Amino acid sequence: MNLISIETVTQPLTVLVTGATGKVGRHLVRYLLRDGHRVRALTRHPDTAGLPAEVDLRRGDPTQPDAVADAAQGCDAAFWNWMGFDATGAGESVGALASEVEHIVYLSAAQLQRGTQGVMPGVWAGVEEAIRRTGTNWTFLRAGGFAANSLGWAEAIRAGESVPMPYPEAVRSSVHEADIAEAAWRCFVEPLHRGQAYEITGPEQLTQRHQAQAIGEAVGHPVTVRQQDAEEAREQYTAWSGRDFAEATLAYYASLVTDPERVSDDVEQITGHPARPFAQWAADHREGFTPLSSTETARNPSGHA
Ligand SMILES: NC(=O)c1ccc[n+]([C@@H]2O[C@H](COP(=O)([O-])OP(=O)(O)OC[C@H]3O[C@@H](n4cnc5c(N)ncnc54)[C@H](OP(=O)(O)O)[C@@H]3O)[C@@H](O)[C@H]2O)c1
Repeated sequence: MNLISIETVTQPLTVLVTGATGKVGRHLVRYLLRDGHRVRALTRHPDTAGLPAEVDLRRGDPTQPDAVADAAQGCDAAFWNWMGFDATGAGESVGALASEVEHIVYLSAAQLQRGTQGVMPGVWAGVEEAIRRTGTNWTFLRAGGFAANSLGWAEAIRAGESVPMPYPEAVRSSVHEADIAEAAWRCFVEPLHRGQAYEITGPEQLTQRHQAQAIGEAVGHPVTVRQQDAEEAREQYTAWSGRDFAEATLAYYASLVTDPERVSDDVEQITGHPARPFAQWAADHREGFTPLSSTETARNPSGHA
């Protein structure tokens, strides 16, 4: 890609951002505003969204087609964040969206590189297909596992305990949420990204054990890992996503021990700089992992922040 000759939009866009209060969405809002675009955000909780004052907040949820259509009215483009564990209802919502905007950038998943069948890759395949069927312009950002998923280890790390993991040797190419957001911003403002499906990963392969160690280096305190019992892991994942999705998640992690997630250079191709390494993500989120002081531990023995 010749970065010098890339054509960009010449007028400010109005972009509807769903998931604007989430990990990727907050960065995307910042990139768009900084570049002079207008941002509208669909959120379930406008009163506590904590977004910049310039953002036009609309109450609602991506699962409500009427709320989506209302929020998208007058927008040029939309960032689509579908939180469901299956694609049921996505067709109605993206249909409502596509009746208002001429470009949808969807936060999909890199797991589609391994196929589209089953509940876990199937949800992203289903939403992509629903968007394709609308006939509007689309860009799919198939993100690898978010580095931010390791925030789930924060409670153990802050309490000075070992991090429980069912597959510590699973090899991931986890991605910094800021890279996904920066890529999304470029996809909105550079028309050449329309009709493209990108694989948005971090720049390196690391086992989950090495990721935990990198967090330890960032906080200046060694972090250890403990092998989590399969049943304990199953219960934990089921509470979050339901049994079918939990089983698919655990099977996926198991597969990564021998068949690592791959590294793509799409972030660099889109943004012009290499993807941010995991160590940088850990440094950027150091505060969330800093061990509790002995007074805090005494006050809060479970480690809950
Ligand atoms: N985590 C990964 O490794 C990964 C990898 C690839 C793809 N993805 C995809 O990336 C997207 C974002 O994932 P995430 O889990 O990290 O989300 P997140 O950043 O925590 O943000 C989700 C946002 O979605 C909104 N939302 C709407 N309905 C929701 C619901 N029922 N439950 C929770 N939030 C809801 C919330 O905004 P309001 O509260 O303001 O409404 C929230 O800020 C998902 O579609 C996921 O499939 C994730």
